[in-house]
Amino acid sequence: MRPSTTGSLLLLRIILLYSAAAVVSQPANAASTSSTLDPKQVRALQSLYIPTTHDPCTQPSFHNATVCDTGTPFRHLLSLRLSNCSEDLSLSTTALSSLSTLTSLSFVDCHVPIVHFPTSLSINLLSFTSINSLQRLSGVFLSRFSNLTELDISGDSIKASGIHIITSNMKSLNTLTLSNTNLTGLIPKHWNPKLSHMDLSENKLNGTIPTSLTLLENLRFLNLSSNQLTGEIPSTIGDLISLQNLSLSSNSLSGSIPGSISTISRLVHLDLGSNQLNGTIPRSITEMKGLKYLNLENNNFHGVMPFNASFIKKLTVFKINGNDNLCYNHSSISKKAKLGIAPCDKHGLPILPPPAADEPSSSVDDLSSGDYDDGGDSGKKRKGDDGDHGPNKVVLGVAIGLSAVVFLIIFLIILSKCGGRCCGCC
Ligand SMILES: *[C@@H]1O[C@H](CO)[C@@H](O)[C@H](O)[C@H]1NC(C)=O
Ligand SMILES: *[C@@H]1O[C@H](CO)[C@@H](O)[C@H](O)[C@H]1NC(C)=O
Ligand SMILES: *[C@@H]1O[C@H](CO)[C@@H](O)[C@H](O)[C@H]1NC(C)=O
Ligand SMILES: *[C@@H]1O[C@H](CO)[C@@H](O)[C@H](O)[C@H]1NC(C)=O
Ligand SMILES: *[C@@H]1O[C@H](CO)[C@@H](O)[C@H](O)[C@H]1NC(C)=O
Ligand SMILES: *[C@@H]1O[C@H](CO)[C@@H](O)[C@H](O)[C@H]1NC(C)=O
Ligand SMILES: *[C@@H]1O[C@H](CO)[C@@H](O)[C@H](O)[C@H]1NC(C)=O
Ligand SMILES: *[C@@H]1O[C@H](CO)[C@@H](O)[C@H](O)[C@H]1NC(C)=O
Ligand SMILES: *[C@@H]1O[C@H](CO)[C@@H](O)[C@H](O)[C@H]1NC(C)=O
Ligand SMILES: *[C@@H]1O[C@H](CO)[C@@H](O)[C@H](O)[C@H]1NC(C)=O
Repeated sequence: MRPSTTGSLLLLRIILLYSAAAVVSQPANAASTSSTLDPKQVRALQSLYIPTTHDPCTQPSFHNATVCDTGTPFRHLLSLRLSNCSEDLSLSTTALSSLSTLTSLSFVDCHVPIVHFPTSLSINLLSFTSINSLQRLSGVFLSRFSNLTELDISGDSIKASGIHIITSNMKSLNTLTLSNTNLTGLIPKHWNPKLSHMDLSENKLNGTIPTSLTLLENLRFLNLSSNQLTGEIPSTIGDLISLQNLSLSSNSLSGSIPGSISTISRLVHLDLGSNQLNGTIPRSITEMKGLKYLNLENNNFHGVMPFNASFIKKLTVFKINGNDNLCYNHSSISKKAKLGIAPCDKHGLPILPPPAADEPSSSVDDLSSGDYDDGGDSGKKRKGDDGDHGPNKVVLGVAIGLSAVVFLIIFLIILSKCGGRCCGCC
C-alpha cells in the first residue's frame, strides 16, 4: 500500500474511533465504524478507478458504488457498482479474485471486455447486472452464476444457443431481465416456481409461448414484447394469478384473446398490440377493475368493440387503432372520439370507409357527447404527453405575482407604521 493511502486511512480510523467514542449510546454503530475495508479490496478498487481516499465503506460512498459488511478487524465488500467507466478501465482476474466476497455486482454504461471470473466470486453472487456494458458475454459464462436470484442483462449481446443455457442451473432465480441481447431460440419450459419478474423483450426468440409458463403463480411481471413468437396465447393464461404487467406486443401471435385473461384480478398493464390476434374482444375484459393500460392496436380483431366511454375513461392509455374489421357502437361512444376505428352499422359491421389514419393513436377525449363532464379530465396522462410544462409555468407566474403583492403590502404597512419617522436607518 502506498504511504499516502496508509496515512489517510490511519487518519480516517482515528477520526472514526473518536466519533465512535463520542457516540457511547450507540455501541452497535461504534463496532461497525471501528474497522475499515480490507487492504486487498482497497487495492482492487483502486485498480478499477474507484477513489479510496475516503473509506469506501462510509455511506453514501462515491457514486454509491460500494456497500460493505460490518466485519472486524476488516470490513469486506458486499456490493459493487461500476458505472460510466473510463475507456481505459480493464477487469483483471486478480482484482476479481480479491472481490469474491461480493454478492452483488453491477456494470452500468461500463464498456469493458469480460474476463474469467474466479469460481469463488461466481457462486457467491446473488445479483448480477450488465446494462450497456460488458462485451463478449456468453451463455456459458453467465450459467456459472448458479446462486443468482437476480440477473439483468440489457443492451449487451449474449452469445448462446438459447436462454436455457443461461438459466437452467439457476435454481433460485427470482428476477430475470434479458432485454435487447440478440438471444435466439425458444422460451424455456422449466423455471424456478418462485420467479416473479421475467423480461425477455427485444430479442429474436421464436416458437410459441410455453403453456408451462402459466404455472408461475408468483409471476408479477412478464414482458415478451418485440420477439418473433408465433402460435396462440395459452388458454391457461388466467392461472398467472399474481400478474400485474403483461406485454406480448410486437410478435406474430395469432388466434383470439383467451377469456381467462380477465380473471387476473391484479392486472394493471395489458399490451397485446402489433400481433395477428383475431376473433372478437372478450367482453369480460370490461370487468377488470384495476386495468390502467390497455393496448390492442394493430391486430385483426372484428365485431363490436365491447368497451364503453366510462370504461375507457378510467384507463390512462387505451389503443385500439389498426383493427380494420373492428367497430364501435356510436350510441355508447361519441363519434368525436378518435379511436382510429370505424363506427358500427346496425349489423355490427364497420361503416365504410374506415377513418383516415391521420390520428393513429386514440384520444380518450371526446368519448361521448353526454355521459360525462370534460372538466373532470385533468388527471389524465398519456405516453408522450408533455402537458406538464404549461401548468407549471402558470403556477410559477401566479406564485411570482402573489409574492409581489405580499411584498407590496408589507412595504406599505412598514411605510404607514414609520410615518414620517426615520425607521432604523438613522
Ligand atoms: C446515492 O444513493 C442515495 C440514496 O439512495 C441517493 O439519494 C443519492 O442521489 C445517490 N448518489 C449518487 C451519486 O448516485
Ligand atoms: C460520464 O463520464 C464522463 C467523463 O468520464 C462525463 O463527462 C459524463 O458526464 C459522465 N456521464 C454520466 C451520466 O455520469
Ligand atoms: C452456491 O452454490 C453452491 C453450488 O453451486 C452451493 O454449494 C452453495 O452453498 C451456494 N451458496 C450460497 C450462498 O447459496
Ligand atoms: C444485435 O445484432 C445486430 C446485428 O448483428 C447488431 O447490429 C446489434 O448491435 C446487436 N445488438 C446488441 C445489443 O448487441
Ligand atoms: C427458430 O429460429 C431458428 C433460427 O434462428 C430456426 O432454425 C427454427 O426452426 C425456428 N423455430 C421455430 C419454431 O420457428
Ligand atoms: C416491455 O419491453 C419493451 C421493450 O423493452 C418496453 O418498451 C415496454 O415498456 C415493456 N413493457 C412493460 C409492461 O414493461
Ligand atoms: C406496470 O404497469 C403500470 C401501468 O402501466 C406502470 O405504471 C408500471 O410502471 C409498470 N411496472 C413496471 C415494473 O414496468
Ligand atoms: C383466427 O386465426 C386463426 C389462425 O390464424 C384461424 O384458424 C381462425 O379461423 C381465425 N378466426 C377467426 C374468427 O377469424
Ligand atoms: C360501461 O361498462 C361497464 C362495464 O365495464 C358497465 O358496468 C357500465 O354500466 C357501462 N356504462 C354504460 C353507461 O353503459
Ligand atoms: C349499441 O348500443 C345500443 C344501446 O346501448 C344497443 O341497443 C345496440 O344494439 C348496440 N348496437 C350494436 C351494433 O351492438
